[in-house]
Amino acid sequence: MAQFSIRPMTEADVPTVILVENQIYEFPWTHRNFLDSMRAGYHMHCMWLDEELVGYIVMMHVVDEFHLLNLSIRADLQGKGHGKHLLQWGIGQAKLANAIGMLLEVRPSNAEAKGLYEKEGFKLIGARKNYYPAHAGREDALVMFKRFGALA
Ligand SMILES: CC(C)(COP(=O)(O)OP(=O)(O)OC[C@H]1O[C@@H](n2cnc3c(N)ncnc32)[C@H](O)[C@@H]1OP(=O)(O)O)[C@@H](O)C(=O)NCCC(=O)NCCS
Repeated sequence: MAQFSIRPMTEADVPTVILVENQIYEFPWTHRNFLDSMRAGYHMHCMWLDEELVGYIVMMHVVDEFHLLNLSIRADLQGKGHGKHLLQWGIGQAKLANAIGMLLEVRPSNAEAKGLYEKEGFKLIGARKNYYPAHAGREDALVMFKRFGALA
């Protein structure tokens, strides 16, 4: 039976990660972005189904919060619960590191991601003007936060 696993992303994984990144984003992270993030010590993990890449998650630990920088699922495997699983795993990692919550930015036009974050208890706390590149100028980001603990 096929086995899921979540493992730290290595430099050797980056070319495969980039194939997915280029497939699913209009403005993808570059090879350099992933390597720089790795060298900066960000939490970077890949989810595999046997030896096939399903998706990946990149998080940054800033003081007492985790910041979700990238959550991606291969196009043909989206909508099957993998994104939710990987996000919940990331939240578990943040809690293990004693973070008080998780912060993220999302494009207002990204209904799937917004829907996932809302369902997982992230609340809208603000917006960042002209945060993302877009074909016609730039797009704002919604800023969402999930507080951990009894009050979450
Ligand atoms: C966003 C993404 C990570 C979600 O992963 P996924 O595996 O496709 O999503 P899941 O199957 O786990 O769905 C989880 C939840 O998302 C929400 N969702 C999914 N599609 C949705 C849609 N079209 N509208 C609203 N909510 C939606 C639902 O709440 C769903 O939960 P449910 O199935 O219990 O109702 C994935 O679609 C992806 O990689 N998209 C492209 C990259 C991206 O935009 N990343 C996020 C950047 S902020």
